[in-house]
Amino acid sequence: MIEIADLDLTDEGAVRVYFEVEQAAQRADRPDAVLRTWPQLQQMLLQPSPYHTRQSLVARDEGRVVGTAELALPQQDNPHLAGLQVNVLQETRRRGIGRELHDEAVRRARAERRTTLLGEVFTPVDGAMSAGLAFAGALGFEVAHQEDHQSLRLPLPRTRLAGLPVGVEGYEILTWGPRCPDDLVEAYAEMHTRMGQDAPSGDIDFQPATFDVARIREGEERTANAYQQIAAAARRTSDGVFGGYTLVYLPHGEDYVVQDDTLVMPDHRGHGLGMALKSRVLRILAEEHPDRTVIHTWNGTANEPMLRINRELGFRPVERELEMQRRDQL
Ligand SMILES: CC(C)(COP(=O)(O)OP(=O)(O)OC[C@H]1O[C@@H](n2cnc3c(N)ncnc32)[C@H](O)[C@@H]1OP(=O)(O)O)[C@@H](O)C(=O)NCCC(=O)NCCS
Repeated sequence: MIEIADLDLTDEGAVRVYFEVEQAAQRADRPDAVLRTWPQLQQMLLQPSPYHTRQSLVARDEGRVVGTAELALPQQDNPHLAGLQVNVLQETRRRGIGRELHDEAVRRARAERRTTLLGEVFTPVDGAMSAGLAFAGALGFEVAHQEDHQSLRLPLPRTRLAGLPVGVEGYEILTWGPRCPDDLVEAYAEMHTRMGQDAPSGDIDFQPATFDVARIREGEERTANAYQQIAAAARRTSDGVFGGYTLVYLPHGEDYVVQDDTLVMPDHRGHGLGMALKSRVLRILAEEHPDRTVIHTWNGTANEPMLRINRELGFRPVERELEMQRRDQL
């Protein structure tokens, strides 16, 4: 008899079990998984963002937690959307536990009038079937977008670093750590908004969020407990207009780096800015964080300009991420 219940966020031991079940279920079929760390999970569940609420469910079999689910509900944009993640321990799969977690999460999503459900599943690079993909397909989800998860060993050898561009004629590259300087933050927020609009997202039924300075600051403050960040932005010297940025996260206590956004603004494309920005960050990583051994990135499988830069830098695909979507009637 399976019992589905809310995770008790006031019980640290219960939150830890939730984390361990999520890790074990995900790692069972994904040797290259990049998962949220314990500090990240604590930050997401215990210091929630004002932009998303989360509901966390556990499935128990005779008192033992064998599965988890998380429902993420955007609060300030996309009121029709709900993000769903379901995890079931390998030894208890194909007993309907995933479906029960899904059904309860969907009941809650509907109560919040959410009609489009989104969830990520992963397959090997060649697209071979996985448990997650079979499960999502059985529940009526369809592929809305695909990304390649790629990785690159760090630190790059000195000879390799020496061959990377140091900049682009007519631009200065500015870098910062935990907090974007006050005089840049407005332009930086505008570029974040543009990133949401320009990054290929296939058929995902969502409206890109608008970033203002408050949203940038809130993100910086909240994520500092779980990650260190490094950002680089390119500013045209003739008129001070920003041409693009790149952002990486270094999770505390881990040996890897996550490459997040890279954007070159439309008027500034074709000058090598994307490569120059990423190269600057790779240099900073080699000089200041030689303990990091790998960097991960995710790119739309149709995003040829970004894929080309990553190939030139030496990134290689390790798995495929599929964004699965289902539209329901209320
Ligand atoms: C995907 C996952 C949650 C499924 O959990 P589960 O408890 O085994 O799922 P269920 O038993 O409820 O399966 C429901 C249906 O999905 C399909 N399905 C699930 N796993 C499958 C598999 N490995 N192969 C083929 N079909 C599968 C079947 O149609 C199944 O119904 P059936 O058993 O009556 O044929 C589990 O494999 C898992 O945790 N995987 C890793 C995390 C993940 O990918 N999560 C999904 C994305 S959010």
